[in-house]
Order: sequence, then C-alpha cells, then structure tokens
Amino acid sequence: MPHNVAVLIGSLRKESLTRHLVEALKGIAPAGLKLTIVEIGDLPLFNSDFEASPPASVTAFKQAIEGSDAVLFATPEYNRSVPGVLKNAIDWGSRPYGKSSWNGKPAAVISISQGVLSGFGANHHLRQSLVFLNMPTLQQPEAYVAQVQTLLDGKGGFVKPETKGFLEGFLKAFESWIGKVKG
Ligand code: FNR
Repeated sequence: MPHNVAVLIGSLRKESLTRHLVEALKGIAPAGLKLTIVEIGDLPLFNSDFEASPPASVTAFKQAIEGSDAVLFATPEYNRSVPGVLKNAIDWGSRPYGKSSWNGKPAAVISISQGVLSGFGANHHLRQSLVFLNMPTLQQPEAYVAQVQTLLDGKGGFVKPETKGFLEGFLKAFESWIGKVKG
C-alpha cells in the first residue's frame, strides 16, 4: 500500500507555478507515494470563536489531514515568509487545543520562486511551525526550486533531466522518511 500524502499548496491562483510543479511531481512520484492535493482555498479566515463548532470546510480539511500518512507542503514565498493562505490552513489544522490534526505526521517542504532566491525564507519560516506542531520533517535533501517557470515544460513534465532527477530523489527520500517515522 502506498503512503497517502496530503499535498498543501501555498498559492490559490489558477495558474500557480507551485501547483504546476506539484502536478509534475505526481508524474514522477515513486509507487510507494500517492500524492493528493488537499485544497485550502475554501477555508475561512481563522477565528477562535468557531473552533468548537467549525464550518464544514474546516471539518473536511481536518479529516483529510488526519486520514493521510504524511504531508507535503509546496509553497512560494510571500514577503520572505509563508503565504497567509497556507498559514491559515496550518492554524485551522492545529486547533482546537489538544486536537491538532498535524501531530506526529511526517512532513516535507518544497519552496519555489520565480527569482533566484528559491523561497528560502518561506521554507524556513514554515519549518519553524512544523517543529511546534510536532511534525517530523525531512531534513535532506532540502528542496529549493528557483526560477521554477524555466523548469516546467508546460506539458506536465520537466525541461531538464537534472531537475527531474533531483525531485525524484527528493520524493524517494520522503518515501523512506515516512516509512522510518511510521515504523
Ligand atoms: C511575491 N513573490 C515573492 N517572491 C520571492 O521570491 N520572495 C518574496 O518574498 C516574494 N513576495 C511576494 C509577495 C506577494 C504578495 C506576491 C503576490 C508575490 C513572488 C512569488 O513568489 C511568485 O509570484 C510565485 O510565482 C507565486 O507562486 P505561484 O502563485 O506561481 O504558485
């Protein structure tokens, strides 16, 4: 049985390069990983007043995370940090107190940019939250994808074999990391 990986995308726009990258990752994932995008765009803005009886979209989101074996975060960087939409989803998943959907789930992070900086700031701000959420996170290889618009071929694949090879290695490392964490 493959590990079910919930993939969260830190961009809501239709032509998101991060989403295009995730679609390309689905095509190269090892047989032991099933990547499923869990949408975060219909979550309301987090409000503690609704934690106890949250809207249906929040309940469905928490169930999707809890039903997964692991979580892959794929995100661009906004103002040197994690896009608000992704942080919002993380916050909903973490509540109510004591009922976090994230606890113990193995995780991995891919950050992207159109420029040369590769979303390093977002990648590491995200990792700060994952420590607190007790999500054992793949350390190596790190995945910083700079100038992503030059790497995708527009047909669901990669322009260069090096990019494909690197990301295949990343996904294989994640597969074995999930196996190790789950025991
Ligand atoms: C950006 N962008 C950006 N890029 C970057 O490398 N570092 C940054 O700090 C920021 N900040 C930032 C803030 C805001 C509000 C926007 C809208 C954009 C550029 C951004 O990473 C780029 O547009 C990505 O292509 C967005 O990802 P998607 O939507 O293509 O997946």
